[in-house]
Amino acid sequence: MKFEKDGLDLLREAVEHMESGFSHLPDVESQVDITALRDVLMEAAGRMQDNYPYFHPYYAGQMLKPPHPVARLAYMLAMWVNPNNHALDGGRASSRMEKEAVAELARMYGWETHLGHLTSGGTMANLEALWVSGKLNPGKKILASVQAHYTHSRISDVLHLDFEAIPCDSRSKMDVVALESRLTKGDVGTVVATIGTTGTGAVDPLPDILALRDRYGFRLHADAAYGGYYVLVDNLAEEAAAAYRRLGEVDSIVIDPHKHGLQPYGCGCVLFKDPAVGTLYKHDSPYTYFSSSELHLGEISLECSRAGASAVALWATQRLLPMTRNGEFAGGLASCREAALQLYRKLSTDERFLTMFEPELDIVIFAPRAGKSGDISRMSKALFDEAAANDLHLALFSYPAALLRGAWPGVVFEGETVTCLRSCLMKPEHQEWVERIWGLLGTAVDLIRR
Ligand SMILES: Cc1ncc(COP(=O)(O)O)c(C=O)c1O
Repeated sequence: MKFEKDGLDLLREAVEHMESGFSHLPDVESQVDITALRDVLMEAAGRMQDNYPYFHPYYAGQMLKPPHPVARLAYMLAMWVNPNNHALDGGRASSRMEKEAVAELARMYGWETHLGHLTSGGTMANLEALWVSGKLNPGKKILASVQAHYTHSRISDVLHLDFEAIPCDSRSKMDVVALESRLTKGDVGTVVATIGTTGTGAVDPLPDILALRDRYGFRLHADAAYGGYYVLVDNLAEEAAAAYRRLGEVDSIVIDPHKHGLQPYGCGCVLFKDPAVGTLYKHDSPYTYFSSSELHLGEISLECSRAGASAVALWATQRLLPMTRNGEFAGGLASCREAALQLYRKLSTDERFLTMFEPELDIVIFAPRAGKSGDISRMSKALFDEAAANDLHLALFSYPAALLRGAWPGVVFEGETVTCLRSCLMKPEHQEWVERIWGLLGTAVDLIRR
């Protein structure tokens, strides 16, 4: 079996249960032509075969993780009502579910009070956090590391705030010496700490950045879109664990349930430590805020319409798998990290490969060994193709040569960047599949070295 389908029977039962809540209403004739529907659905299913198998452990490339069956089913269930979580007028039950689910996320960071909501994804969530930051520090600069997600500079542009990138150290983390030297020049309103970079999964040195905040006074935003859930896990190396222990001290956090939170796409989340920032959103809606004096989520969100179904899916997932340290959900994440460590150990002790540093979360960066960086880039691309031809799907990553010189002393560097391979081991099953992945990788690397 490739797809979990048993839940589809439960879906019918749940839809009928939901329908029974509306049984007092007169029936509405169905206008749907099932034959035509079938034809189109089959055509869509056929078209969707043209995808990498993101759901399978042999997909070990980009940052993609399948939703949990409960999330998929709860999302579909909600579709029969299709609530809009802009206002309680559009999604009463799902807005309440969103508030509960988001409060549970905030509690992961020790925040018993907070302001926050779901967004369409990490970019919108970061936009919102930086918008709030810009309102509180008008005209001041935003700093993030060169390895921060590329959207931070674009978001800053949208917000008409100057952005500056701070160099990274050889482990892809924000260089705090460079950060401090920039801070001494003044005019900085916000520092973005990336808690799990997109490229390598590196965790910026939060304790050092917090110490600099005490000295220089700036707003600190944590982009934990990918890494945020790792706060629940107990198998991190001490340096990363130290950052997670202090994550609750930042001013705002972005965490993406559609990355590690087992949700379908369209589910990011922004959290503010101080609920008072809600006053910055102040607006009135002549159309929607009528049915209740309770908070409408649209009153504290930049976006207007938002999928209530996302909230239903997240709420159901967290009901089944509570966000507790050492619970089943946390165990799944710990397996991802363990998978990444196992693969890293194999790669770093094998003469055919080059590695850089131990993964902090679950992303492994590596390359086929060669003497010149141009050959490494060429062989990485060849390995990517050869592995894919054998159903093992990896990703490519263009990494700054400057950050590699220390790790690869024997290599002659010929350009500014080196193309490496990147493997996000984001499925708990990856731990069991490491041996098979390693087997395919070994065969593929031998073929390209011939
Ligand atoms: C650290 C980080 N921040 C932000 C984003 C952007 O999130 P989204 O793609 O959900 O907009 C990503 C996406 O990979 C990310 O890894």
